[in-house]
Amino acid sequence: MDAAASPRSRWGQLLQRIRARVSYQASIFAASVSFYSLYCRNLTGYYLQNVHPSHPMSFLNSFRMMRLVYRVRGYTAVFVPRLVALYKLSEEINQRSLPGDIVECGVYNGGSAAIMASLCEKSPVSRNVWLFDSFEGLPKPTDKDGAEAPAYEGWCHGDLSKVKEVLRKLRVPESRVHIVKGWFQDTFPKVEIPKIAILHIDADWYESVKLCLEKFYDSVQPGGYIVLDDYGDWEGCRIATDEFLKRRAIDVKLIQVDYTGFYFQKPHK
Ligand SMILES: C[S@@+](CC[C@H](N)C(=O)[O-])C[C@H]1O[C@@H](n2cnc3c(N)ncnc32)[C@H](O)[C@@H]1O
Repeated sequence: MDAAASPRSRWGQLLQRIRARVSYQASIFAASVSFYSLYCRNLTGYYLQNVHPSHPMSFLNSFRMMRLVYRVRGYTAVFVPRLVALYKLSEEINQRSLPGDIVECGVYNGGSAAIMASLCEKSPVSRNVWLFDSFEGLPKPTDKDGAEAPAYEGWCHGDLSKVKEVLRKLRVPESRVHIVKGWFQDTFPKVEIPKIAILHIDADWYESVKLCLEKFYDSVQPGGYIVLDDYGDWEGCRIATDEFLKRRAIDVKLIQVDYTGFYFQKPHK
């Protein structure tokens, strides 16, 4: 009898397959646990950074902020520091009663949008929320996006029903939100948004970021914010932003949030 077909070696092969499967599952489990613990440490770190012992209310306010960030965790590809930054900018424009809508280009499953939308409810001025996405994932990149970009075509394929779900979960009224599905080049010409308080651009690629800035920058109110989720991470986003600022002779200081997120305030000129 052939050794490879012997019952003993069949058992051996079976055991080997089981061992490989168990160690694969264990490595996935270990990766999830370490990601989750990193996430929770991040949440705790940001909670503590935002409490000030001399301001008792800051304990509650910081808790509210982190709770919101935690509640959108299954709906976003944006990590804690950038969600916290969006929360704080949204809170700040409310405190200043800066008029204008919230615009997000690059929505995926709606997590970052939901944070900004839920703060609109607390605004003393009325705001609408505009959400633009293909809901078909990232388009084809160009050479300006770098050698790694082609591997990400189609990545971040959002689901419109999840966007609606997270907005419902945070009790954002549907009437406040306009979800515009389609490629930016097709949908942008069909909308006019006269006043924007926050423009959140989270669309990764050169062509996408360029379209967003060209379409919406002029509507951002002086003192409003332009947030660039991918400035540090994707060179196409960086090139599109730098080219735009240079072409329009806009002199601003970009504020860094983490390794990739940056934002700036539109000057009063
Ligand atoms: C990184 S994801 C956005 C993440 C999201 N802000 C979140 O909270 O997870 C980038 C999104 O941009 C969208 N996108 C990029 N370029 C686009 C374009 N030209 N037209 C429409 N959607 C685009 C993709 O479909 C994708 O959902």
